[in-house]
Amino acid sequence: MTRWVVPDPKRENWYWPNDAMRERAWVSDPKIYEEAAADPVAFWAKRAEEIVWFEKWKETYIDEPYAYKWFVGGKLNLSYNSLDRHVEDGKGDKVALIWEPEPPDEPNRILTYKDLLAEVSRLANALKRLGIKKGDRVGIYLPMIPEAVIAMQACVRIGAVHTVVFSAFSAEALRDRLLDSGARLLITADGYYRRGKLIDLKPQADQALAGTKVEKVIVVRRTGHQIPMHPGRDLWYHELVKGEKDFCPAEPLDSEDLAFILYTSGTTGKPKGVMHTTGGYAVQVYITAKWDFNLHEDDVHFCTADVGWITGHSYLNYGPLMNGVATVVYEGSPDYPDFGRMWQIIEKHKVTVYYTAPTAIRMHVKWGEEWPKKYDLSSLRVLGTVGEPINEEAWLWYFKLIGGERCPIIDTWWQTETGATCVEALPGIGPFIPTVAGRPFPGIRARIVDAGGQPVKTGEGGYLVLEPPFPPSLLRGLYGDPEKFRATYFGEFGPRLYFTKDGARMDEMGNIRITGRVDDVMNVAGHRLATAEVEDALSQHPLVSEVAVVSRPDEVKGEVPVAFVLLKAGAQPSEELKKELIKTVDKYIGPTARPADIYFVEDVPKTRSGKIMRRILKALVRGEPVGDITTLRNPESVEELKRIVGYKG
Ligand code: WTA
Repeated sequence: MTRWVVPDPKRENWYWPNDAMRERAWVSDPKIYEEAAADPVAFWAKRAEEIVWFEKWKETYIDEPYAYKWFVGGKLNLSYNSLDRHVEDGKGDKVALIWEPEPPDEPNRILTYKDLLAEVSRLANALKRLGIKKGDRVGIYLPMIPEAVIAMQACVRIGAVHTVVFSAFSAEALRDRLLDSGARLLITADGYYRRGKLIDLKPQADQALAGTKVEKVIVVRRTGHQIPMHPGRDLWYHELVKGEKDFCPAEPLDSEDLAFILYTSGTTGKPKGVMHTTGGYAVQVYITAKWDFNLHEDDVHFCTADVGWITGHSYLNYGPLMNGVATVVYEGSPDYPDFGRMWQIIEKHKVTVYYTAPTAIRMHVKWGEEWPKKYDLSSLRVLGTVGEPINEEAWLWYFKLIGGERCPIIDTWWQTETGATCVEALPGIGPFIPTVAGRPFPGIRARIVDAGGQPVKTGEGGYLVLEPPFPPSLLRGLYGDPEKFRATYFGEFGPRLYFTKDGARMDEMGNIRITGRVDDVMNVAGHRLATAEVEDALSQHPLVSEVAVVSRPDEVKGEVPVAFVLLKAGAQPSEELKKELIKTVDKYIGPTARPADIYFVEDVPKTRSGKIMRRILKALVRGEPVGDITTLRNPESVEELKRIVGYKG
């Protein structure tokens, strides 16, 4: 069993790559950081040369406020770089995608690069036949099946802009995104399996379409159960692609052509359409997948994120495929048929890279170490985490029980907006330290600043910001809302500092520890969610007069929403009503957004101008000091709330 790390002789729980890892690693000399810092633009140009361009770019970086651009004038295609490139290199018979269905007795679907190229081409040709052109938006509402990857690849292949919506999101959530993006076509499925149950998907899709611009719906047959099909509008995927040619040339796209839109939560109730363009995204996703996970041809990469999140876009689909490795797509739940499923998948497919979220690790900790111990995990080389700060206990459990104290843990900090990882320790360089993400990726300039935008001292807490040249895969805007783009990311510190909305501190070596969001965004079980979105959903209930949602820490999920609900006159609080409110949240967002606690209250603390003081509610549910309440319009409400939440601050 190969060992890849050694403990630091002086510092407890610090680890470094050993010789075996350094030898295998793409980068093992820490000088790469200085070299890249001396000329980040030249660094990225060099990285860009590793992917295939139909036409080389004329200018590497344009540093314009709010309109930075990368590889300007270059022409390329994400799907060409994911598929054709490898087939042309004679690697067409290499495995590209391993699909693991949830039902344990159902066979795997394994697609080689040649197979995947043929599938993607057939769908791309069908999309063209349906009139989908470059720039058209296509909604994708699919479970974790190969067609999710195929659909995304088919879109970018012809220059259509995909907008993937998490399949556990509700019809309302899907409708909002289809409306905002103006999608003309939707690709969905009949259903899927989760925890042994058949989950219906098509009826939700149908419900979401009212009022949208969607003309055609392509339906993948996954479960084969009876579903409603609307003649003239709905088309079965398998029938549609049957007669199509198995090759569709990849459209040469401009580096700054829109590649996809992905909706994410900001501080308001309305999700924002994050826009990613082609060239910068391709380059940064390619190189971070390669360097972070040290991907070589023989790797089997297993990213557990759903395709509905940016992690699924970048490190289940584009990153591994651009690197020519095998990517594992698992349909179902980690506890089905038992708590050992993920470890069984690793053993079965000889997974070498496993990338998951701290919330998942904490769940496994709870389920007990007997589960991973039943399986042979010796194929693993690199472990990754993403989505929220990882606590020391979970880190050490992951390191010992899953990595056998042999594998580095790559704690990657990034966001939907950055498109690709930005802060992490590289496997051939290290160090790997629990709760510390690592250094900014070479060529990325990150700083910790105070509220005035001034750098804080080493070790002091502050706000994490990015400086120009901005990462190539940083978002180029918010769909249809340039004003909001400026205000959200450059409102605090101006156009020269991209504000991440994360708190952080940095040590002497430049290692960054992320302390968490500083705005009203929660990370609930690895899902990003705004408190305002949950408020919005709850206020749809006819008996709710006013509502405030804050987050509190949770041992497994990281954070959970807590709701304070004021009812309309005459309405009575009851357990029944609580259940109805939960259903309302399911309806408008999805079960991931369910509040952990709902408190029916008479009053919430407000400023004199009538603004709800969520800061105080947050302190109350967290048992933290509530601070000064003298400026409130209704300070007496705080005493009452203390009693209701059982405050022991
Ligand atoms: C948080 C997920 C600590 C952070 C890729 C960020 C992290 C938000 C880490 C983005 C990490 C992500 N350590 N916190 N390694 N990675 N975060 O858009 O608060 O779903 O701003 O993107 O997750 O969440 P998003």
